[in-house]
Amino acid sequence: MDYRFTSKDEMDTLELAQNIESEKFPNMVICLNGELGTGKTVFVKGFAQALGIEETITSPTFTIVKEYDTGELPLFHMDVYRLEEHKDNIGIKDYFTKGGITIIEWADMIENDLPDERLDIEFRFVDENTRVLIFKPHGKIYEDVCNSVL
Ligand SMILES: Nc1ncnc2c1ncn2[C@@H]1O[C@H](COP(=O)(O)OP(=O)(O)OP(=O)(O)O)[C@@H](O)[C@H]1O
Ligand SMILES: [Mg+2]
Repeated sequence: MDYRFTSKDEMDTLELAQNIESEKFPNMVICLNGELGTGKTVFVKGFAQALGIEETITSPTFTIVKEYDTGELPLFHMDVYRLEEHKDNIGIKDYFTKGGITIIEWADMIENDLPDERLDIEFRFVDENTRVLIFKPHGKIYEDVCNSVL
């Protein structure tokens, strides 16, 4: 089953991310897809804040993975938009089992490397401040997360 959430502004997306964070568990994987500027990084900011990470979250476009270790669980923030240029996605899968939370922007670009069990969230632009988020949980544990939050 898919779930749908309408975000009326940036704050809505931040709050939603915080609510999902409250259902976190080690090795959670969240895959974010959607056009440029639809709020994927905003989501990561909300999640990171809820984890207790005080550093500023910036898009890791040129580094692929940014690791934050000051929160309740480690956060691995990936943006794989430019990965093809690097032609080096060796090592990405290792992060899924390090006991932290992995959140991947543009995850569809590494579809074959994603774990079977994960939460996909697609961000759709509606108008300047409105986004529709479509949640697709893969696996019971992620279905439970969606049931609790949405
Ligand atoms: N409802 C909303 N939810 C999230 N962001 C919103 C919303 N309405 C407006 N915005 C704005 O949209 C922009 C989203 O930028 P963000 O960097 O999160 O996009 P992105 O999806 O990560 O893009 P990219 O693919 O370039 O990484 C921000 O400037 C934010 O203020
Ligand atoms: Mg981004």
